[in-house]
Formats: sequence, structure tokens, C-alpha cells
Amino acid sequence: MRRKLVAGNWKMNGTSAALDQVEKLKSDHTNPSIDIVLCPPATLLHKMMHSIGNAPIFAGGQDCHADVSGAHTGDVSAEMLADCGASYVIVGHSERRTDHRETNDQVRIKTKAAWRANLKAIVCIGETLEQREAANTLDIIVGQLAGSIPDNATGENLVVAYEPVWAIGTGKVPGLDDIGEVHDLIRTRLERRFGSGVGRSVRLLYGGSVKASNAGDIFDVSNVDGALVGGASLKADDFSPIINALQ
Ligand code: G3P
Repeated sequence: MRRKLVAGNWKMNGTSAALDQVEKLKSDHTNPSIDIVLCPPATLLHKMMHSIGNAPIFAGGQDCHADVSGAHTGDVSAEMLADCGASYVIVGHSERRTDHRETNDQVRIKTKAAWRANLKAIVCIGETLEQREAANTLDIIVGQLAGSIPDNATGENLVVAYEPVWAIGTGKVPGLDDIGEVHDLIRTRLERRFGSGVGRSVRLLYGGSVKASNAGDIFDVSNVDGALVGGASLKADDFSPIINALQ
């Protein structure tokens, strides 16, 4: 049985004042039946761990460098995230793939780095609007999945997030059938590559304009085990109803 998961990706948002939202989330979810993960900017991670305290909320990074340490100005390693108390790290987000030209190969190497530091990797994949309109979505997903995920994946160390690039921050969401088609494909491919036991145990998240009003319908789609939420994760009043829709 896969444990459901909702992760909030704060992206480059939030200073210390935003930690009030953690306090609110803690009081909203004292005993959640799902995993709740917050991925703040790296600058907030340490303070966020203090805010979380013993509450049943996990924290994660938004990216990691492939190396443990070294001359990589501005970068943060998976080990550094783990040292701050993170349990997860997002890798291959489309904004990294676009802004930093990250390739599937680099994402795969970063995923290995996450595992080296005992972090669970949330590997993001998704097609652009151009690719969808050219009816290439499924090919793109198959290619990104094969290229971005190393061998040795397990249901414990891997989460896959399907985030259509054109749905991120736009208010546009694919049809429920389209989400189902992609998630079923991801599940089939994971089973084929890693065996049915592992393939069935990896959690699959949908991401892209998830909000309280559409979360329930999205969570009913087959092979959707939760969501990776951007904008609506910044305020507890927006994020909590999404968490509640999954419980
Ligand atoms: O990683 C989450 C994200 O890219 C989705 O963002 O703002 O559309 O929920 P948003």
C-alpha cells in the first residue's frame, strides 16, 4: 500500500516570517494519515526544522549538487540538506531544466547523490505545451523517466512527480483522463524496469496548478498518490485543504 504524500515546493519564496505558516500547518495537522513535506529555499531549511520540531511534517531541498563538497559556488549538496534535517529533495524540476539547462543525465546523477545522502528523491518530469500539442507527451515522459532515474530505485527512495510544464503556475490543468494516462504510463514503465514490487510501490505525484478546488478530483485519478504543490503551498490556509483532500 503506498502512503499518500503532499509536498509543497516554496521555490524562491519565503524569509523567516514565512515560518508562521509552518506553525499554522502544525496545528491544522496534528496526526496526518499522509506524508506532508515542505521544500523551502535552502536558506530557510535549518530554521524550518526548528519550527517543525517533533511535528509529523518532513522537509526537503529543491535541488542538490551531484558532489558531496567542493568548488561549486552557490550550490548545496545532498549531504548538506540531510545535515540540516531534510528527508527529501526535489530533482529535475522543470524550472531547473529550463533555467539551468539540466539534462536527464544530470538529473539522474543528482538523484544518485540524493540516495547517497539517504534522501528520498522527488524526480520531476513533464512535457512542454509545444510537445503536448505535437502529441509527443507520452514519448517525452518515457524518455525523461528512463533518463532521469538511476538503477536501484525503490519505493522508499524514489517519488516521481508528473508536472506538465504548461500547467505550472498558469491555472491550467490537464484533463483528468490525460493525467490518468500519463500516471498509468509511468506506473507501467516503472514496473517493467524495476519489477512489479518496486514499480507498484513508488509514489506518483501530480503537480501543476493544484489548489483546493481541483485537488479532490485529481486525487481520485488512478495512480495519483498525491501532489507536488507550488503557489498554493505558500499559505497554510491554501495548503491545508489540499492536504485534507488526500486524507
Ligand atoms: O513543483 C510544484 C510546481 O511546479 C507547481 O507549481 O504553482 O503550479 O502549483 P504550481
